[in-house]
Amino acid sequence: MKKVVLDTYEDVCKAAADIYIEQLKNKPNSILGLATGSTPIGLYERLVRIYNDGGINFSKARSFNLDEYYPIKKNHPQSYDYFMRGHLLDKINILQSDIPNGEADDAISECKRYDAQINAAGGIDLMLLGIGHNGHVGFNEPSVSYNMGTYLTGLTDSSISANSRFFTEDDVQPTKALTMGLGEIFRSKAILMLICGKGKAPIAKKLFEGKIHTDIPACFLLLHPNATVILDKAAALG
Ligand code: PGA
Repeated sequence: MKKVVLDTYEDVCKAAADIYIEQLKNKPNSILGLATGSTPIGLYERLVRIYNDGGINFSKARSFNLDEYYPIKKNHPQSYDYFMRGHLLDKINILQSDIPNGEADDAISECKRYDAQINAAGGIDLMLLGIGHNGHVGFNEPSVSYNMGTYLTGLTDSSISANSRFFTEDDVQPTKALTMGLGEIFRSKAILMLICGKGKAPIAKKLFEGKIHTDIPACFLLLHPNATVILDKAAALG
């Protein structure tokens, strides 16, 4: 696992954007794994700017997102579908994008469909990840099995309470999600994890201890042959 520490969040976003420029230059039809959360917002803003300036071309690329609440309407402002369209997908010329369908009648068939699509596309070339304070990746919470494809999972109480601020009193907050499993993520040819802010310093420290803690899902990165973690100083030093 390669570790890169940069001064600021902006530096992290710039370095990550450079990786995407390079990726699409080398393989224009790349399969990109994308993530939601506050961490990648700066990267997406930068990619949109670069795209508008003609510096990157997504026209042959496809994307698959990491996870989605279940059930949720695509047009709900808290759906990850809505987030991705607003921050990136509607603003670039990406050929095709897929997000687990929070509106699917049958969650289990939706998970199977999603895995089949990823496989048919040849697997993910570059998977973008954030990390939760407890080491979660997507909705893979501590103690999850390491070999799973996409699956329906219950949200932990900590995820429900962390996300409750985004839902109004009139909303029914989802308590489940569809998430790529760690097995699916691990099969990505390259993984890029971004860790930013002082609040993430304790989990970053644990990750870089180099021990596989089965209660920290992100530790599987230590075993991946092509994983890069970019941190800002706040997350690296605390
Ligand atoms: P964040 O979320 O980017 O909003 O910190 C990351 C995560 O919980 O996976």
